[in-house]
Amino acid sequence: MKKWICGNWKMNGDQIEVLNWSKEAQRSAKEYENVEVGIAPPFIYLQSIIKYFEEKNVKIGAQNAHWENKGAFTGEISPISLKNIGCDFVILGHSERRNIFSESDGMISKRLISSLNAHLNAILCVGERLEERERNKTFDVIRYQIENSMEGIETDNLEKLTLAYEPVWAIGTGKVAKPEQAQEVHEFIRRIIRDKYGEFSKNIRILYGGSVKPENWHSLDQMPDIDGALVGGASLVPEIFRKIIEISNKGE
Ligand code: PGA
Repeated sequence: MKKWICGNWKMNGDQIEVLNWSKEAQRSAKEYENVEVGIAPPFIYLQSIIKYFEEKNVKIGAQNAHWENKGAFTGEISPISLKNIGCDFVILGHSERRNIFSESDGMISKRLISSLNAHLNAILCVGERLEERERNKTFDVIRYQIENSMEGIETDNLEKLTLAYEPVWAIGTGKVAKPEQAQEVHEFIRRIIRDKYGEFSKNIRILYGGSVKPENWHSLDQMPDIDGALVGGASLVPEIFRKIIEISNKGE
């Protein structure tokens, strides 16, 4: 199973920056063949980036998708439209969507089902807040989010799914989970998937996200249940993003 390193650019970058970052990511994806590289630029740039590359090694995805394919949903983006312009994947249930925009697990599960049905791959994010960790609720929160966000997914669609564990207290804060701390949750997530879907749990990739940088990635990448990273801030600096990819490519 190849490692999967995905840059989440959030609401960053102008037209020129975003194209430059994309070219660099494409270069890294071409060079480091043991790693699957992805980028999730803001919606507005997706189509021009996809069109720019004649040969595309990097996977290009969106940062959300609506649960309906069309209709009166002002400001939303249809999963069918994303597929139609050539998107490979979509990030769903990111903690910024959950916490700033009040997306519930119910909404996220509907978005996930529609995206998978539209033949998009999906990265489903879960993660506990600081107060939940401090109250020893991490495992309860993770189980609840996974069971409810994955509600109703058809087994045939599972192969398009990647999970991402992103402790909210580690996102954009510079505080990274210790490798053992992250491994413990990743292992727990794989067990939930095994209990529900059996052997498939061995094939699903579970990414870690939250202040990933080359300095901390090496030891996280070594953990047996960490299959890649969802990278925010560090993916906005091509040389740094490239180093993270290089570390996973070596895998040692
Ligand atoms: P960060 O963001 O790497 O800037 O902490 C990760 C994410 O939000 O996916």
